[in-house]
Amino acid sequence: MMKSIAALSVAGLLTGVSAMAQTSVPPEPDIVTDTCSVCHGDEGISPRARFPNLAAQTKDYLDAQLKNFRNHMRADPDAVAYMWRQAGALTTSSMNEIVAYYSAVPPPKGSAGESAALVAAGKQIYEHGIQSEDVPACGACHGAAGAGMAAFPRIAGQHPEYLVAQLRAFRSKARDNAIMYANVQHMTDDQMREVAAYLASL
Ligand code: HEC
Ligand code: HEC
Repeated sequence: MMKSIAALSVAGLLTGVSAMAQTSVPPEPDIVTDTCSVCHGDEGISPRARFPNLAAQTKDYLDAQLKNFRNHMRADPDAVAYMWRQAGALTTSSMNEIVAYYSAVPPPKGSAGESAALVAAGKQIYEHGIQSEDVPACGACHGAAGAGMAAFPRIAGQHPEYLVAQLRAFRSKARDNAIMYANVQHMTDDQMREVAAYLASL
């Protein structure tokens, strides 16, 4: 008797969970279908290294970046070339719809395209930092699996070329962010490629 009640309530819970999962992705906004997906791909999984995946990115981070593009605070060359105009044309309500949509679609799946040695070296940096060079463990903010939280972006499953470009932009201050500048100011290009290879594999 106990057993069947437990089984029933577990089944009830599971039904509840799957129903929630189905209803939690809002309909794709028209502007995503017509414009954003041309570069950022279907459901925010971009087919090209230059265009970041947006799928399952955190709400707070997406919202902050769209505002940073709109205010011209994020000024690395590809931000200026591609995103200033896109974000500048958005109303606040369409921005909210876009953020709700991309944050709710399923995350990208990692791809093991890079060499195992590169990935292993990157894992070491991600989990432990490089103490002699004042590089902190990335996972402390971005989460053990790189899924991000609130203002800390998801970086797992992202295109490695995009990640390296952003790390270099933080280091040169073309993308002006005090926290990430402090984290990467002493990193070499090789170390950036290692940590990006690890993240892309997650
Ligand atoms: C013509 C191509 C193109 C289109 C169209 C486009 N984007 Fe982008 N987007 C880019 C590129 C390139 C970047 C990377 C900019 C950089 O390197 O700083 C980017 C970056 C972003 C980022 C930052 C992601 C991150 O991880 O920091 C967001 C958010 C974003 N785009 C949202 C949108 C939305 C919403 C739309 C539709 C209104 C859109 N984009 C349309 C090319 C495009
Ligand atoms: C103290 C917290 C903290 C630590 C430690 C940290 N980050 Fe970040 N990271 C952030 C924040 C906050 C942002 C968002 C910056 C912004 O708004 O532009 C960010 C942004 C990023 C981005 C840009 C993502 C995108 O989609 O454009 C990358 C890539 C990144 N971090 C990689 C790393 C790596 C690699 C490490 C370890 C060497 C690291 N971070 C350590 C807080 C941190």
